[in-house]
Amino acid sequence: MSFFTNLFGNNNNKTNVDLSIVGTDFHSHLIPGVDDGSKSIEESLALIKRFHELGYKKLITTPHVQSDFFKNTPEIINKGLTDLQNEVKWANIPIEIEAAGEYLIDYGFEDKLKNKELLTFGNGHLLVELSYFAPPDNINSMIFELNVERYKIILAHPERYSYWHDNFKKFEDIKERGVKFQMNVISLSGRYDKSVKKMAEKMIDAEMIDFIGSDMHNESYMAYFEKSLSNKHLEKLIKSGKLQNSLL
Ligand SMILES: [Fe+2]
Repeated sequence: MSFFTNLFGNNNNKTNVDLSIVGTDFHSHLIPGVDDGSKSIEESLALIKRFHELGYKKLITTPHVQSDFFKNTPEIINKGLTDLQNEVKWANIPIEIEAAGEYLIDYGFEDKLKNKELLTFGNGHLLVELSYFAPPDNINSMIFELNVERYKIILAHPERYSYWHDNFKKFEDIKERGVKFQMNVISLSGRYDKSVKKMAEKMIDAEMIDFIGSDMHNESYMAYFEKSLSNKHLEKLIKSGKLQNSLL
């Protein structure tokens, strides 16, 4: 049994979804040692090889950038990216690797914006996340300021912000302010919570999802990711042709 089948089981991908149509994944934690994602280059390479086997052509990996934990700077991320790109090349995995950040909108975010320290991808796209515990009180002003600076805001895993699960209008309001939504594929596996899965499916039905992302951290995430590939809502979303991942 190879190293990779040891990690992920003997997985014949039983799915109706074609991930080569999606093409690009832009939410993952594959730079070893800079956040709570991959812990070693071996782990990163195993995950990247699996992404390639599943049909992905490009991975834009996004280490956490926060003011209290994971104080990653553009320099740290870019250095990690160069090392990772070299390893992927030496391992002969034919997939493109880029990097940006997953920025938590916390008390230090505005300074990063003012100091132009935000790493973007695509065409000025910026991946942001919110606290899971309480909504930020400055979300509307942050969206406004980012729009003024012409960032294309992508909100990571909106389905996971349970404080708005009974307030669907809040999600509609954020979308109306020009924010695009990136759903985590593994939300459909029930990995987080049943209510998260329900909200992800509701957002797909409401045609609110613009992008999908793996939010890949480690081997256990990959198992949940592959489990999600048989989800009917995911199949519907990918076949809708509305996902914009391939443009990045
Ligand atoms: Fe993430």
